[in-house]
Amino acid sequence: MKRSYPKGKPTRHAKATARRGAVQAIEIDRIYHMDCVEGMRLMPPSSVDLVVTDPPFAIEFKAKRSNYNRTQSRVLEGYNEIPQKEYFDFTCRWMTEVYRVLKESGSMFVFSGWNNLKDILNALAQTGFVTVNHIIWKYQFGVVTSRRFVTSHYHCLYVCKDDVKRKFFPYARFPKDSSDRSGKSLHYADKEDVWNINREYWHGDQKTPTKLPAELIRKILQYSSEENDIVLDPFLGSGQVAVVSKLMKRRFVGFEIVREYYAFAKRRLDSGRYRVSDHAESRTTSSLDLFEARLPP
Ligand SMILES: C[S@@+](CC[C@H](N)C(=O)[O-])C[C@H]1O[C@@H](n2cnc3c(N)ncnc32)[C@H](O)[C@@H]1O
Repeated sequence: MKRSYPKGKPTRHAKATARRGAVQAIEIDRIYHMDCVEGMRLMPPSSVDLVVTDPPFAIEFKAKRSNYNRTQSRVLEGYNEIPQKEYFDFTCRWMTEVYRVLKESGSMFVFSGWNNLKDILNALAQTGFVTVNHIIWKYQFGVVTSRRFVTSHYHCLYVCKDDVKRKFFPYARFPKDSSDRSGKSLHYADKEDVWNINREYWHGDQKTPTKLPAELIRKILQYSSEENDIVLDPFLGSGQVAVVSKLMKRRFVGFEIVREYYAFAKRRLDSGRYRVSDHAESRTTSSLDLFEARLPP
């Protein structure tokens, strides 16, 4: 069931958006094709439980079929990148809105490459967020170059507004005393701050180039949210955060500025399928299959 947020006093920006005949209020369990700062300004304060997001990197990344080394014909084009010199201001703008819409009990997980990490860290401090953890997401495959080491990790900053009130469910994935055959604590291993999680490769299906794996999002949702919580992703891309949230019975809301990506994410959410394909329906996979295959014991 769709539910509107209670109406707050509209901001100057919100009025401008409304004048243009665009979106006037943000509903939950919906995603929007719009700039996330404009979108978040239409949301009431303290209304979101969890933010999981992967903002643009400002590394002049171009999601073009011609320079993207995969089965290229199915990679969607049009990724909206931010010039390096504007990155800090851009980051402060969207983080200020996240801070405003986040509940006191809420938290945010923000992903960043190492190139612009300092801007992300400075903006987090300037906005008032409290850092809880600095997580490393280690993935299985980076681009090999001859004159430097292979980058095969991302940073994930886990931050909150209030370290006492923030939600955290320490045994959401493994009971306190669970162990593997050799007696090693599964709970401890799962809670280390280096996460080894593979990237997903979607052979044959349509895809976007910078997708977070479902398992990564699932782990975050399990530790930091409950069913029916509202999960926001201001930078949806392929819609991974919204799709996984929906599958895990969370409510979702999000924004994407590139029409083609928005349409792809919406198609996934509307179909209720994790993977959508524009040919044989039988090739699509329901996300429940994907999750059930990987549920921790
Ligand atoms: C790194 S990608 C997100 C990928 C996503 N986590 C996924 O798993 O597919 C960042 C996305 O933010 C979008 N974007 C950039 N600026 C934006 C803005 N101002 N408002 C909304 N979306 C924006 C880009 O077009 C891109 O799709």
